[in-house]
Amino acid sequence: MAIVNDFRLTLGGSEYVPIMVGGMGVDISTSDLALEASRLGGIGHISDAMSTFLSDRIFSTKYTKAKSERHRASRDTFDKSKVKFCLEDLWKGQVQFVRDTMSRKTGNGGIFINVMEKLTMAAPGDTLRTRLRAAMEGGIDGITLSAGLHTGTMKLMADHARFREVLIGIIVSSARALKIFLRGASRVDRLPDYVVVEGPLAGGHLGFGEDWREYKLSLIVADVLQFLKKESLDIPVIPAGGIFTGTDAVEYLEQGASAVQVATRFTVTKECGLPNKAKQAYFNATEDMVYVSTLSPTGYPIRLLNNSPCIDSNIKPQCEPLGYILGKDGTCQYLTAYENTPVDEKGKKLPVKDKVCLCYHFSKHKCYTCGHYVYRLKDTTNQLPDGSYQLLTAEHVFNDYLYSKDHQIALPEMEIPMAAG
Ligand SMILES: Cc1cc2nc3c(=O)[nH]c(=O)nc-3n(C[C@H](O)[C@H](O)[C@H](O)COP(=O)(O)O)c2cc1C
Repeated sequence: MAIVNDFRLTLGGSEYVPIMVGGMGVDISTSDLALEASRLGGIGHISDAMSTFLSDRIFSTKYTKAKSERHRASRDTFDKSKVKFCLEDLWKGQVQFVRDTMSRKTGNGGIFINVMEKLTMAAPGDTLRTRLRAAMEGGIDGITLSAGLHTGTMKLMADHARFREVLIGIIVSSARALKIFLRGASRVDRLPDYVVVEGPLAGGHLGFGEDWREYKLSLIVADVLQFLKKESLDIPVIPAGGIFTGTDAVEYLEQGASAVQVATRFTVTKECGLPNKAKQAYFNATEDMVYVSTLSPTGYPIRLLNNSPCIDSNIKPQCEPLGYILGKDGTCQYLTAYENTPVDEKGKKLPVKDKVCLCYHFSKHKCYTCGHYVYRLKDTTNQLPDGSYQLLTAEHVFNDYLYSKDHQIALPEMEIPMAAG
């Protein structure tokens, strides 16, 4: 019986263990998590979601405060049309973040960055261009384009010296989306180096509507493989979404996939950036708590736990300090939802029902986004005497994917809690 370790992924002439840890923003897939995947010979992702905010947290820069000060005038209005990012700060924050991560790299794996198109940041083209070029400048091994069709993205990078050398991949949820991306890429004569095919059971935002249940990852993968064959395109295909055991992964590798992208299993590792409270919420989740919601102001559905603290919040829109979802005209669906929500008799804003302030809640890790199988995480570890669950190491989860047979999951060695006194 085959195991994941029998397979290898070849990208740009290098060989990798065929496990990619997916990008999870904001700083859920931390540098430390990506570095572990790379050390073990696989591929890890950092995410560039809210990179100036992240830079402040990691390097004590003051970009968020400076932006907030610059736009003080619009704080009490709903007109955010002038709230813009300083591109120089964005560039500096992103270069520093990527360079710092890459300087700590060990092993033969890769460190890639997940770059979401839907982070429109009040000036979509300019901010995306800055983020992409800064990632290349910082020495990133690969760029995974996500959350959007990215029809014009390759063009934004094309005049950078590393454009033909850095690995570039795209996340799609259908062969149709891949065709659209390839049309744009052909204009700069650059094929993607890999394609991540993300199915309906993934975490984060989904490329499906309310009918997500009608789609099956293995069928979409088959469709994409067939399309690439028909076009004589030799591009590695990497399925993602609901691949919970090594055996699940082997099934895709035997189907013709070159690697798998996984995320949810790594949310409960020590290296993951979520606070312990959120990790324990993931462990404690039951199947009926997982749902696909329309609460994201991006307009994409997002899979969440129904006890996420962001739900029913009435937080004032945080566009001046944050504002990562603002359109170029200064609009955001949360802004509108907040404006339309009445106040109670004491003048206090009632809970905003239709949308959440993604910037604020992601920055505080209050949106418990997760893959569909989050409720199985409790079966991957030990429960401790106090009822909480033992966190795993990224190495343990990575190796479990590599060596598992028959859908078995290896439990970690029991951690003995320190005696009091
Ligand atoms: C907590 C969490 C956050 C995520 N954030 C992002 C993100 O910022 N960008 C993105 O492209 N995908 C994101 N994803 C999707 C993952 O990168 C990955 O493709 C998917 O979750 C794989 O499915 P699995 O979680 O069932 O293994 C996220 C997933 C999780 C669980």
